[in-house]
Amino acid sequence: MEKYAIAAIPGDGIGNEVVPAAMRILDVVAEIHGGIQWEWTSFPWSCQYYLQHGMMMPSEGIDILRSFDQIFLGAVGMPNLVPDHISLWGLLIRIRRELEQSINLRPARLLKGLRSPLLHPADFDLVVIRENSEGEYTEIGGRMKKGEDEIVVQNAVFTRKATERAMRYAFEQAKKRRNQVTSATKSNGISHSMPFWDEVFREVSTDYPQVTTSSQHIDALTAFLITRPHDLDVIVASNLFGDILTDVGAAIMGSIGIAPAANLNVDRKYPSMFEPVHGSAPDIAGQGIANPLGQIWTGKLMLDFLGYEEMGTLLLEAIEFTLQSGIKTPDLHGKATTEEVTTAIIEYLQKTC
Ligand code: NAI
Ligand code: MG
Repeated sequence: MEKYAIAAIPGDGIGNEVVPAAMRILDVVAEIHGGIQWEWTSFPWSCQYYLQHGMMMPSEGIDILRSFDQIFLGAVGMPNLVPDHISLWGLLIRIRRELEQSINLRPARLLKGLRSPLLHPADFDLVVIRENSEGEYTEIGGRMKKGEDEIVVQNAVFTRKATERAMRYAFEQAKKRRNQVTSATKSNGISHSMPFWDEVFREVSTDYPQVTTSSQHIDALTAFLITRPHDLDVIVASNLFGDILTDVGAAIMGSIGIAPAANLNVDRKYPSMFEPVHGSAPDIAGQGIANPLGQIWTGKLMLDFLGYEEMGTLLLEAIEFTLQSGIKTPDLHGKATTEEVTTAIIEYLQKTC
């Protein structure tokens, strides 16, 4: 029996609804497999926690997390309680940075039973590898002067190490898929970092002669994601570009509520963190209608990362079964509740196995 210590951080808003749902399902998957056991520990770190303690997590929070195998997170942010830059930098981004989760992996594919907003969605199945530790998201910069003379500077940082790591990860993924990598660039407008990005992409590509490559400017690539997503296999992108592309990826799948993500510590020195793409959805929190599929699919990514791909595939089949049966939450134009979708998936798993 393999035991995994998992830190569950439901966080804010609908995180508190979809994380417990996905935990129940992962427990059933473990039971069916017979050789996995999850040892869950839940942490209340959130905006509520901030209001009580003046911080998003205790000062030793990162050290606590280091002792776990993996982290399963819902969503962070409640802008009416705590400004977003405080809550996200205080918890989510801190974990990503300090636990060196340098790759953000986000798949997007057309699931059976889902209605894509695209008029003619050919079967698409792509994955975005987003650099997760630097790029445009840094704390370097500042503000000076006030009023009409105000000046704001925000610096982007690109290191050879992190850039190369993201590219290699993308090529390795491509080898397991359809041998194609597209790099998101903007070297026609951004004159230092993006030509560097292109250079590293070309260098790394020489180690993977079997993989077809192409570089696309981010504006054109975002459009391609809508006009011909089926032509894309693996996309490698900087932090900001990857963030934008994956929201489009979620949208063409049918709802941001189903899109999964993984923040990976590639060397497996520290835990990785699995969290859906969506946020805390304050507009629907507490109503019991949040779509749990993004969080559940995120669980599939955790199973894949731990080497249980066959269980991950089974879980995705269960998701597609509920969609095809019309058991859908309102974001997918259905009437089902979070609980109904969760129960349907559990019943499918138990019936099939
Ligand atoms: P959001 O993803 O929370 O919501 C956007 C829209 O999608 C809303 O209409 C919401 O109801 C809907 N939606 C999202 N997830 C859904 C689900 N599972 N089921 C059904 N509908 C769903 O993004 P928003 O409103 O921009 O951000 C809200 C808060 O979440 C902010 O504080 C933001 O900073 C934070 N956030 C946190 C993220 C994270 O923890 N990784 C990611 C994105 C936003
Ligand atoms: Mg985003």
